[in-house]
Amino acid sequence: MKVNGKSYRTIWMKEPDNSTVCIIDQRFLPHRFIIEEISSHNEMCKAISEMHLRGAGLIGVAAAYGMYLAVLECFGSPNFEDELKQKAKELIATRPTAVNLKHAVDKMLQAIKNAGNNAIKIAKQTALGIEQEDLNAGRLIGENGLSVIQGISKTKNEETVNILTHCNAGWLAFVDYGSALAPIYLAHKKGIKLHVWVDETRPRNQGAMLTAWELQNEGISHTIIADNTGGHLMQNGLIDMVITGADRIAANGDAANKIGTYLKALAAADNNIPFYIAAPTSSFDRSIKQGVGTIPVEQRNPDEVRYVTGWADNHWQSVLICPENSPAANYGFDVTPARLISGIITEKGICKANIDDICKIFDR
Ligand code: MRU
Repeated sequence: MKVNGKSYRTIWMKEPDNSTVCIIDQRFLPHRFIIEEISSHNEMCKAISEMHLRGAGLIGVAAAYGMYLAVLECFGSPNFEDELKQKAKELIATRPTAVNLKHAVDKMLQAIKNAGNNAIKIAKQTALGIEQEDLNAGRLIGENGLSVIQGISKTKNEETVNILTHCNAGWLAFVDYGSALAPIYLAHKKGIKLHVWVDETRPRNQGAMLTAWELQNEGISHTIIADNTGGHLMQNGLIDMVITGADRIAANGDAANKIGTYLKALAAADNNIPFYIAAPTSSFDRSIKQGVGTIPVEQRNPDEVRYVTGWADNHWQSVLICPENSPAANYGFDVTPARLISGIITEKGICKANIDDICKIFDR
């Protein structure tokens, strides 16, 4: 996507040095556009766990590059394989919910396993391949999801389609294009009238800070709302569809996504509003039969809830919003049961959230 007229991906290998990975440092958005250079496995672990970059697809690609940097560090060591396995474990532990991360690390380990003297070359090619796959998936999710928005636009005689989204599942959460926002960008390009209601997404405010910034850059009409507003809008006919991303989808279609997604799905079902998940097949974890109660849910620092952070005097400032000693809980994700999901938009097509339909998608 373009920032100030220049095309960017969220992550790329620095050429010609090939030992540095560049990322858009999301901690400073929407107020500053900063590129961070990452040159070691440890720096990549820190960037993922401290959310310099975030979003299911992107942390998968970042982990692949983290493994590439690990290969550069360990190549030639007599304990090469063991050291690499340890570094893989450290990467997987950075963020537990989005399965893309584990899939990418496993793929890297598998590729490097028998590469011998070609380990560096193979690791680089594999990481670049994972990056390209993520990018292609986003583009195709956009094309496949477009039909859903077009359908609603048609039934409304081409009046504005009102879409609610939660968290950030735009291009910043992937290499490019995104998942939930990919069909929205494309529909807008095709001239379909749209308005996007953006959940602020406490406590990290990915909606207010990132989704709103992305939509603004694309010139797409949007309004930021407090997280609890969606139900009211739905009851009053102001939402035509809900679309969110996912961090891990179980074999039966239960989908983990940013905390608060489940409540949106409940409200959508109560108001007969279609609720779609958009995610690449790399976000499915078919080793988990059903997601509710089983998908690991990341718990983050409670201070992310106790404090609110905002931009003032040219830097971020945090203020305490609760009694000094009140404890807080910070669950990062929740799981929306398959029965509340109207469809899952993937790069291979749209499927129903059930085991048979999901299997068919994987067979394509
Ligand atoms: O904690 P984050 O910001 O890494 O959360 C991941 C997400 O962006 C959301 O859950 C998103 O909707 C799915 S991943 C594109």
